[in-house]
Amino acid sequence: TELGVTLVGFSGGQSRPGTDAGPEVLTQAGLLTQLESDLGYTLHGDTHVRNFNAYQPTVTDRDNALSNSSTIDDPDVRGMKNPRSVSAVTEQISELVYAQARAGRLALTLGGDHSIAIGTVSGIARAIRERADTPNDLALIWVDAHADINTPETSDSGNIHGMPVSFLTGLATSSTSGIFDWLQPHHKISTTKLVYIALRDVDAGEKRILRENNIRAYSMHDIDRHGIGAVMDAALAYIGTNTPIHLSFDVDALDPMWAPSTGTPVRGGLTLREGDFICEAVAETGQCVGFDLVEVNPSLSQSEGGVGDTVRAGVSLVRCGLGDTLL
Ligand code: ARG
Ligand code: MN
Ligand code: MN
Ligand code: MN
Repeated sequence: TELGVTLVGFSGGQSRPGTDAGPEVLTQAGLLTQLESDLGYTLHGDTHVRNFNAYQPTVTDRDNALSNSSTIDDPDVRGMKNPRSVSAVTEQISELVYAQARAGRLALTLGGDHSIAIGTVSGIARAIRERADTPNDLALIWVDAHADINTPETSDSGNIHGMPVSFLTGLATSSTSGIFDWLQPHHKISTTKLVYIALRDVDAGEKRILRENNIRAYSMHDIDRHGIGAVMDAALAYIGTNTPIHLSFDVDALDPMWAPSTGTPVRGGLTLREGDFICEAVAETGQCVGFDLVEVNPSLSQSEGGVGDTVRAGVSLVRCGLGDTLL
């Protein structure tokens, strides 16, 4: 099968350097080679990491943004940090991933922080609308400790990696700021096609958004009560067959015991096997058209061996999501 690979070295959606090195450590661990030799994929796309952190706002961006300051390159817009940079980078990612998905390839993206999903999900949603072999619109499974559905107005941090889902669903408006104005209706997904798994750290404003829009969410509490098998059965039944699925996996969905090297770890998370199972269950449907693995940050480690543990967990998740089976 054909795999469209995009390696996104980008950390501008949050404040900790190192997240941009995620794709590098995952590929150095042999991930892409394994996908070719063990799983039999043919790889397409740029298999070298693109450093999207190099983006600098243009002189015009600066002039438009700065009427009364000349020291900052990418000043906040509606409280968003690095807004021009994240908007420009995700627009490029959207085009790259769109091209892979439009060609009928399974689109694998390694991040980078979770803001990059503004690019991956929009690109795949657009491609799926154009593809004759996929009658229904894209569904999105978001596996994460966090809901990442803050609007610029509800966000406390201003970090855009906490906002991608609000832009992708149109809950956040682009207004007249110029940020994410490239996101058109054909890039977006319905809140009815969104399913969360492994939530455990959701901001007050986000809880209100989830409730008011009746968004399907399976928390760690639900997984404890019903087990990951029943939760996946329910999640996939909600999405239905004949619907293409994009799986966006934030490595912080896993408990920090398994994946400590990430910017916003939250205890009480998934075991590695539960994470792998989620990926296996999505792969088994045959409906998976896109997969992101994000927020691996090799610069962060609370303990000896933490980076290696996190990278091994990441490699395992991707293998499972791409159809690796034991037998
Ligand atoms: N909810 C917090 C925020 O808005 C944390 C988001 C963490 N997101 C992530 N992709 N790790 O800043
Ligand atoms: Mn279609
Ligand atoms: Mn997260
Ligand atoms: Mn996330």
